[in-house]
Amino acid sequence: MADITLISGSTLGGAEYVAEHLAEKLEDAGFSTRTLHGPLLEDLPTDGVWLLISSTHGAGDLPDNILPLYEELQEQQPDLSQVRFGAVGLGSREYDTFCGAIEKMEEVLKGCQAKQIGETLRINVLEHEIPEDPAEIWLGSWINLLKEV
Ligand SMILES: Cc1cc2nc3c(=O)[nH]c(=O)nc-3n(C[C@H](O)[C@H](O)[C@H](O)COP(=O)(O)O)c2cc1C
Repeated sequence: MADITLISGSTLGGAEYVAEHLAEKLEDAGFSTRTLHGPLLEDLPTDGVWLLISSTHGAGDLPDNILPLYEELQEQQPDLSQVRFGAVGLGSREYDTFCGAIEKMEEVLKGCQAKQIGETLRINVLEHEIPEDPAEIWLGSWINLLKEV
């Protein structure tokens, strides 16, 4: 089983690229990873470490490819007390609902008793043309927190 399961939610591909970049960096740091773009609950381990990366669409809405997972989590309320997770959002500050999707994911996971590691990173794509850059910096401190707990 992979040490870290990366889960991306994306409409235009940006969050997928960030997920793949972070997976590469995690592998460089010695972790094994599995990257899933828009998985369903049945595709995911109910223990271990998850790293969620999602952009926001509509007005604070989840991308279509991750919405089914969100709905499953909401409806089934699986026991995720053995899951630890990190969260990275991509969004644009021009929306009032900046990074609304990752906030929704964070909330539903906590409702299923998953434990968050570190703070959610919210990347404003207006400010960061290359979202991989702030994501990579954040990953460095997230890895340190992972090793502590
Ligand atoms: C139609 C549309 C609606 C959007 N709505 C939001 C929003 O509500 N909140 C937000 O933070 N960003 C919003 N964004 C910005 C996207 O999240 C941002 O462009 C992101 O980089 C897209 O990532 P993706 O390529 O993974 O889909 C929106 C973008 C589009 C095109």
